[in-house]
Amino acid sequence: MPMLSSNMNCVAEFFTYETTKSVVVKSWTVGVINRAVQLLIISYFIGWVFLHEKAYQVRDTSIESSVVTKVKGFGKYTNRVMDTADYVTPPQGTSVFVIITKQIVTENQVQGFCPESEVKYSCVSDSDCQRPVPTTGGGILTGRCVNYNRSLRTCEIQGWCPAEVDTVQAPIMLEAENFTLFIKNSIRFPLFDFEKGNLLPNLTAQDIRTCRFHPVNQPFCPILRLGDIVRFAGQDFSKLASTGGILGIKIGWVCDLDRSWEHCVPSYTFTRLDSVSEKNNVSPGYNFRYAKYYRRENGTEYRTLMKAFGIRFDVLVYGNAGKFNIIPTLINTVAAFTSVGVGTVLCDIILLNFLKGAEQYKAKKFEEVTEVTLRHSPVYRSSQMLGGRNDEKQSTDSGAYSIGL
Ligand SMILES: *[C@@H]1O[C@H](CO)[C@@H](O)[C@H](O)[C@H]1NC(C)=O
Repeated sequence: MPMLSSNMNCVAEFFTYETTKSVVVKSWTVGVINRAVQLLIISYFIGWVFLHEKAYQVRDTSIESSVVTKVKGFGKYTNRVMDTADYVTPPQGTSVFVIITKQIVTENQVQGFCPESEVKYSCVSDSDCQRPVPTTGGGILTGRCVNYNRSLRTCEIQGWCPAEVDTVQAPIMLEAENFTLFIKNSIRFPLFDFEKGNLLPNLTAQDIRTCRFHPVNQPFCPILRLGDIVRFAGQDFSKLASTGGILGIKIGWVCDLDRSWEHCVPSYTFTRLDSVSEKNNVSPGYNFRYAKYYRRENGTEYRTLMKAFGIRFDVLVYGNAGKFNIIPTLINTVAAFTSVGVGTVLCDIILLNFLKGAEQYKAKKFEEVTEVTLRHSPVYRSSQMLGGRNDEKQSTDSGAYSIGL
């Protein structure tokens, strides 16, 4: 039986509710600070968190996208008319492609032995070619020093001969400035199953043929002039075409799906991505080599080596979409209400340390209970212990009862 009653006690102890007691401070200074801090916190949450950052929405940042590109235009280069198949690589219309604007061509290379073509490989005797020498040349060094021309002797290589001379000045294909780039971009936000493309429905077939992108006048035209892209990226076309470079065409889809379908539109921005090569002289620009291989009638293979300088375009698609959802709304609302309480920390510091009469406030706020007091009044939870006086008064702030002053 005593066992049971002690259990009952435990249960009764468990089913109780504890609430904190409040001290109401009638002080203008702390009162004003308290309200000001609360107002600041509330306006931060309403203005920034809810309205600006849209904390009531759930966001999908995993945008799915496909990009198809097509370049059009004819250029003239070394007495040849160049079409898309000549200057665009790779030809598949991917989101990353190069427009070749300058080429250094080395024709009729065959496998064999020949002297290096550059002055930095010059030598007097074979021993000069047996020391470790730069390996950036045209082939494997044989260790012999041979005549390159009447005045220059260079180290001999085994490889594709004759060796490339890439220090010559080559012209650039200036017409590339007027080439056009057509971008077809489809996106999807999988969380909301929302799909859209950059060819907006109000764009007619006629528009698509004639329009040219302009950030203000034609912000949704999917046809871009290369010269414009370079200019929007803050670059000089002929300089970029000469050294080569990498430009980023960024298509941003930042959508508020609480608004209608029409309001989700792409925005195009342009930057130079290889800014490191812009600022240093060791490796300026962008170039690469490729070759075309042929076979003579007698079976010997020969090739045409091309060192190509060009503008590489990277079409980068980014974006996120938000839509109202009850869970983030609740979480952020609760966070807002909780944060209002942060003001009390500041007010307490001022109240208990810097205000006139801080000692009295301290005495009211913190009541000391010693063991002796406890032994004399075993029911230490009663209000007799803490205040002594019983006239209670309601606080306007939290709705809690507090001791009247
Ligand atoms: C580009 O086109 C404009 C107008 O059609 C023309 O005046 C200009 O000469 C062209 N630029 C080049 C480099 O061909």
